[in-house]
Amino acid sequence: MGYKVVVAGATGNVGREMLNILAEREFPVDEIAALASRKSLGTEVSFGDKTIKTRDLDTFDFTGWDIALFAVGSEATKAYAPKAAAAGCVVIDNSSLYRYDPEIPLIVPEVNADAIHGYAKRNIIANPNCSTAQMVVALKPLHDRARIKRVVVSTYQSVSGAGKEGMDELWEQTKAVYNPVQEVPPKKFSKQIAFNVIPHIDVFLDSGETKEEWKMVAETKKILDPSIKVTATCVRVPVFVGHSEAINIETEEFLDWQEAQDILREAPGIMLVDKREAGGYVTPIECVGEFATYVSRVRQDSTIENGLNLWCVSDNLRKGAALNAVQIAELLGSRVLKKG
Ligand SMILES: NC(=O)c1ccc[n+]([C@@H]2O[C@H](COP(=O)([O-])OP(=O)(O)OC[C@H]3O[C@@H](n4cnc5c(N)ncnc54)[C@H](OP(=O)(O)O)[C@@H]3O)[C@@H](O)[C@H]2O)c1
Repeated sequence: MGYKVVVAGATGNVGREMLNILAEREFPVDEIAALASRKSLGTEVSFGDKTIKTRDLDTFDFTGWDIALFAVGSEATKAYAPKAAAAGCVVIDNSSLYRYDPEIPLIVPEVNADAIHGYAKRNIIANPNCSTAQMVVALKPLHDRARIKRVVVSTYQSVSGAGKEGMDELWEQTKAVYNPVQEVPPKKFSKQIAFNVIPHIDVFLDSGETKEEWKMVAETKKILDPSIKVTATCVRVPVFVGHSEAINIETEEFLDWQEAQDILREAPGIMLVDKREAGGYVTPIECVGEFATYVSRVRQDSTIENGLNLWCVSDNLRKGAALNAVQIAELLGSRVLKKG
């Protein structure tokens, strides 16, 4: 016996990947429902070698369904996730709505799998921001060995992090640069994204940080360790899929770069590719469609006593969203629901 699984937001970037990953990882699915807004009613989406028709989230009855993977944005999550949870269906949500709620666990299975038992308070589990997910996977094994005190991170985030519309905007603007028949003014992004980089993701806060930068700080503390200090600069770059991060780490104990490499090589969810020669590192284009979080360019930071630098790349639609959500579903299955 397997699970009755709902994917809400099945026509979106993350929802489509959720369906792909459920099939790829052979999650024990007895029945699947693909939901989106009314305008997508009947739209066909792929689930393994099958095609399924999208149903309307607004009229869907969650009674009798086991797990709902939500990827619909905060507003629609607010309207529909509590209904699903009240009907006894465990919600695994990709939006930022519940991430900072102390009653709701925020989980990256490689880092804080034991938090899964906290799901029962509200029947909801939160999935982190894409940039946080890949970073904490890389930080966890180094923290276990040498206690991380402070992290300085700069991100290079792909346009798929801003949904389908973000990808379309990069595509249309790029075409318009080569064939300027009509202008494609910025809509999803604040400035032209084609052939440009934009140091602004999500809204500005009073502190001068953006909300995306604040999320990396707050989520790292909740998932990994509240004592770790994090400062972030989040930048949108003209890459379709795959987020990259340059991470500087200060630890309590000295950690030699070679030992750090050895630790990362053995760590769950990580693929170390670090050859110290041209091409001996991973770039976003190579991580698309992969499960791993790639780490390259591990080296000492000689400007501080106990410092390391590294480069971290992952498919933001996978580890940053859909894969992590499916891993949470697997964890829920193996530790709590125990079907399949
Ligand atoms: N992209 C990433 O890297 C990433 C990473 C982590 C988390 N997330 C989060 O995941 C969520 C989805 O992101 P995305 O990139 O997949 O966005 P997207 O490509 O724009 O897709 C949005 C999906 O949500 C559905 N939807 C929106 N409003 C709805 C409503 N009122 N009722 C029913 N369905 C509705 C859309 O259905 P229609 O097609 O019918 O409009 C579509 O299926 C967001 O909360 C985002 O912050 C994204």
